[in-house]
Amino acid sequence: MTHVVVVTLTTTFLLLALDKSGELRGPRPVYVPPVKAAAAPATAVDPDKGKQPPHNDTVDDLPEGKGREVTFYTCTACHGVALIKAQGLTRDLWDSSIDLMIEKHRMPAPKPQERAEVLDYLAEQFPPRRRTRGGDNPFLR
Ligand code: HEC
Repeated sequence: MTHVVVVTLTTTFLLLALDKSGELRGPRPVYVPPVKAAAAPATAVDPDKGKQPPHNDTVDDLPEGKGREVTFYTCTACHGVALIKAQGLTRDLWDSSIDLMIEKHRMPAPKPQERAEVLDYLAEQFPPRRRTRGGDNPFLR
């Protein structure tokens, strides 16, 4: 019995030693460092990248009206005017939309005076769409 134990242990240690010295494994893969990409020419770097809003809209893309400019500059840092124009909301819902932009999308809160002007403008220019007979069916308008 002792024999078996001694033989087993000896074999185990032998195998361990061999394994450690690498005898039992094939050659290690050689690490090849990736080739460094050539540095991009300096002209390719746009210093204003990230500072520009993700659209080319201008104030003129909003319908004329009191508060148009303050609305444009308050509301188009993150998206174009299309998102705004696509909405038709009551004053209350526009008010909560502004809250949503502040709370969910981290819009810097406008000064109370500016916020009031923006809200006036939005409520005035983009009210809920009137429901015509036939709902949204363009053929029944
Ligand atoms: C700090 C960034 C930021 C500012 C400033 C901002 N928004 Fe937004 N707004 C967002 C993001 C982000 C979304 C979601 C865009 C999307 O879904 O593609 C969004 C979506 C919207 C939508 C569409 C909501 C919907 O349900 O589809 C409206 C309307 C809107 N914004 C109005 C405004 C108005 C009005 C202002 C100015 C008072 C404003 N936003 C200012 C970030 C902003």
